[in-house]
Formats: sequence, structure tokens, C-alpha cells
Amino acid sequence: MEVELTPPALHFQDVAATLGRHPIWSGATFALPAGALAALIGPNGSGKTTLLRIVLGTLAPSAGRVEVFGAPPRRGNRWVSLVPQRSELLDELALRARDLVMLGLTGHRWGLGLPSREEHARVEAALAAVDALAFADLPVGWLSGGQQKRLLIAQGLVHEAALLLLDEPFANLDLKGERELVALLTRLNRERGVTVIVDTHYLTTLLPVVTHVVCLLDGRPRLVPLEEVLTSALLTRLYGTPVEAVRVADGSLVIR
Ligand SMILES: Nc1ncnc2c1ncn2[C@@H]1O[C@H](COP(=O)(O)OP(=O)(O)OP(=O)(O)O)[C@@H](O)[C@H]1O
Ligand SMILES: [Mg+2]
Repeated sequence: MEVELTPPALHFQDVAATLGRHPIWSGATFALPAGALAALIGPNGSGKTTLLRIVLGTLAPSAGRVEVFGAPPRRGNRWVSLVPQRSELLDELALRARDLVMLGLTGHRWGLGLPSREEHARVEAALAAVDALAFADLPVGWLSGGQQKRLLIAQGLVHEAALLLLDEPFANLDLKGERELVALLTRLNRERGVTVIVDTHYLTTLLPVVTHVVCLLDGRPRLVPLEEVLTSALLTRLYGTPVEAVRVADGSLVIR
């Protein structure tokens, strides 16, 4: 018999989310294995960002039990890293790109001591991993949305996050940027074993590479089999408008 040694990345047991006094979703029971590359899909306002906040530990569930790698989520957990949906703050930042990444490593001891040689080396490695060396010395505010997103991913990488959460990372990216980001996430997932969860409406580029899909439908997050996601019926129900998923000759996916 095979024994599961690694706890799942996420374990939800009858979890509910409430914001203010509004129930957002409930009845979430699923396990997402460590090493998954998952899409989190659902219409606007269905509670995807809310779910990520619960995983991150910045919002407590209103019911049920959540475990992240076998332990309750807690704010400031360095194993979990979030690339947020909105990051306008970065546009005002005069900090150099590499210093923003360094903060991922030293932020918790802000102002206390200079980074060590080993920490500098880790920042360089993370910048290289996301292909950001070319703009590493520019102020963050000068960078494009896609470049900023890569830095935020690097920030998660320096402290060796095992779970990377990305909230609508493709917004504002052009098609090339979208493809490059999907390639980067696939690489981090396959080569470094980082578990990745991407909350997105951009399915065409992402769905062909995902291993799992968490779908927020009818007020309940659930894990859906990949084949089911690709049926036009589910996508149509999900978005409330006729949608068709078609696999074309080269194996890529067209959603129309
Ligand atoms: N403080 C709050 N009190 C009550 N309701 C809230 C509060 N904050 C957000 N909401 C509502 O909670 C719902 C879920 O929001 P959430 O941001 O999680 O959705 P989402 O699935 O991420 O949407 P999108 O695809 O637009 O990013 C929305 O309907 C939102 O209006
Ligand atoms: Mg959202």
C-alpha cells in the first residue's frame, strides 16, 4: 500500500467564508495535493480572492477547518506567498527592483543589520529564476505590470515559499507576457516542486498546463476533474454566457 507522506498543500473541511455579515461561499471540502499547479476559477465576485486570503491566513474562515501543508494558516507564514490582484502601490515605489526582492528575505527584520553575502546570492538566484536581472537595478515604479509581477514571484522564491498564490496575475499582461508567465509558473512547479494556485479568468493559456482546477460555482468551491472543466457546459454555467472549449490540432486550447 502506498503511504502518503506529504500532507496536501490545502485541506478544506466544510469551510465557509463570510465578509462582514455576507456569506460568500460555504461547504468547501477538498484536498489539493502538494506539487499541484492549480487554476482557481469562478465568476467576478464569487469569492476567489476571499479563498486566497483564507489560505494566506489574513482572513479566518467563518466555519470549518483549513490546513495548509498540514497546519492551520497563519499570517506571516513564510511558506506561502501571494502575488496580489492589485499592486498600484508598486507604481509609486522608488526602491530598486532587487531591493524589493531582498525585502522578501529581510522584511521581518526591517532595518536590523545588512543582508549577508548568502542573502545577496539568494536574491540574485531568484531574480535569475524569473528572468529579471535585466531590470534589477531600476526603480520598481518604472517597471511594467508584467515585470512587477515577476519581482513579486521572485520575492516569494527567496524565502523558498512552497505555495505560491497568484491573484489574477494576467490582468494587464499582453499575450507574450501571459505566455511567459505561464511558462515561468510551469517551470517553478515542475523543476522546484512549488505548489502554484492561480486565480484567473484567463483560461486559454493556463488550462493546458494545470494539474487541478478549483471551481467556485453555486456558492461552493470544489475540485473539478480536468475533463469536466473542458466541457463547454461547465464553462457556460460558470460564466453565464455561451462558452466553448476546443482543442486544436497542435494540442493547444481555444476558448470562445
Ligand atoms: N468587506 C466586505 N463585506 C461584504 N462583502 C464584501 C466585502 N469585501 C468584499 N465583499 C464581497 O465579497 C464577494 C467576493 O469577493 P472576492 O473579491 O473574493 O471575489 P472574486 O471571486 O475574487 O472576484 P473577481 O473575479 O472580481 O476578482 C464580492 O461580491 C464582494 O463584493
Ligand atoms: Mg478577485
